[in-house]
Amino acid sequence: MAKEKSIYVCGECGGTSAKWLGKCPSCGAWNTLVEQSASASSAGSNNRFGNTAQFASLAGSSELMLLSEIEAVDVARTPTGLDELDRVLGGGIVAGGVTLIGGDPGIGKSTLLLQAVDALQRAGQNALYVTGEESGAQVALRSRRLGLSQSQVQVMAEIQLEKIIATLDASRPTIAVIDSIQTLYSDQLTSAPGSVAQVRECAAHLTRFAKTSGTAVVLVGHVTKEGALAGPRVLEHMVDTVLYFEGDTHSSFRLVRAIKNRFGAVNEIGVFAMTERGLKGVTNPSAIFLSQHTEPVPGSVVLVTLEGTRPMLVEVQALVDNGGPSPRRLSVGLDRDRLAMLLAVLHRHAGVACMDQDVFVNAVGGVRIGEPAADLAVMLAITSSLRGKPLPKGFIAFGEVGLAGEVRPAPRGQERLREAAKLGFSVAIVPRSNAPKKGGRDFEGLTIHAVDRIEEAMEVVRTLD
Ligand code: TYD
Ligand code: MG
Repeated sequence: MAKEKSIYVCGECGGTSAKWLGKCPSCGAWNTLVEQSASASSAGSNNRFGNTAQFASLAGSSELMLLSEIEAVDVARTPTGLDELDRVLGGGIVAGGVTLIGGDPGIGKSTLLLQAVDALQRAGQNALYVTGEESGAQVALRSRRLGLSQSQVQVMAEIQLEKIIATLDASRPTIAVIDSIQTLYSDQLTSAPGSVAQVRECAAHLTRFAKTSGTAVVLVGHVTKEGALAGPRVLEHMVDTVLYFEGDTHSSFRLVRAIKNRFGAVNEIGVFAMTERGLKGVTNPSAIFLSQHTEPVPGSVVLVTLEGTRPMLVEVQALVDNGGPSPRRLSVGLDRDRLAMLLAVLHRHAGVACMDQDVFVNAVGGVRIGEPAADLAVMLAITSSLRGKPLPKGFIAFGEVGLAGEVRPAPRGQERLREAAKLGFSVAIVPRSNAPKKGGRDFEGLTIHAVDRIEEAMEVVRTLD
């Protein structure tokens, strides 16, 4: 096949150029030209202001359908056999669906997917694992370690996209794993593997293949800190499902979170423990992110957070210490802008000043907490560190705090309280509307203090000293 010429398309205006230029010849923007195969760009994939008359002459018009007359077929799912993975996927893999799994190098992406394809193969599906990162021997070594020495999964060590698609087309597996998308390259482009152009082009072809063949495709994408490799973010809009691995590589727990799912609920999480023999699902994960203090320490508060449909207890730690002329605010696992906002609310409404202090906050175990219901716990941890006084043993908190100092209810408060009571916690500060109604009894063994405002929460803490 003659090599098709590639062209360069501006991401801003859609202008094209036959060679790479630093400045777009059409709109003058800098560094916006991205290489594309000529066939892809003539289909207008990156061309926002394409000439419609030109398109009309290129293709016949498409048939129009009435929404009410289109048959709505429920997607058929094939469970992978790994319950925690199925939970995030919304029940299993979907024929023709494309899933992107992102995460830091070494977090367990290859391990999880090898386990999943093996389980699928054992359940009678045809699974294919394309490895671009490791040799077949390295994959075999991992499979032995996982106790899968009899695995019937087909493995292909290949990085050239056209060859991969040809092989997939010939064997039509139920599921194909591409590990990783950043190692592939297409002949149509001259850019290096891992560049934005290559990653996009390869993902687009594989997505098209999935849709036309019905093979479920899983793309592995490394999250990269430096700009040399294009990260999985550039692909999020192209795929049906996006999963990210979270967790601290130093601890054994790993979370897999769905951040986009055209076939199921988002923000559902799967919890795994990395063991000697691969990833094992953790069915009751509510207490895994608590550090085991024997006595309470200042700056530590346990938060009941809701991850997907499951409540989990996560320890939030804060350290407030004398800062220099420009004090630092750092957060791990929590939003930094939100931290700045909470410090302002603490100052204005509760009279707690940290202006000249360094403030560090951390969610234990490498989890990322996105929900605002963490606010109250973060603020109580900061105050506790500043005062050098621990909260009582068995203390939990949750609730969103607004700019006016009001404490807003968290979704599904009763469930959070029930989980805390089940795990033996004894004192809680929560938003008023999350507390059991007046006259109702406290949850078994859990004394609940309901508050409307942040200053009220501070008052309650003082009475607990
Ligand atoms: P891996 O799946 O190769 O990570 P990724 O594909 O995301 O880069 O996981 C690598 C880490 O997992 C490595 O540090 C070794 C560890 N590991 C175990 O602890 N137990 C196991 O059974 C396996 C296969 C890996
Ligand atoms: Mg890997």
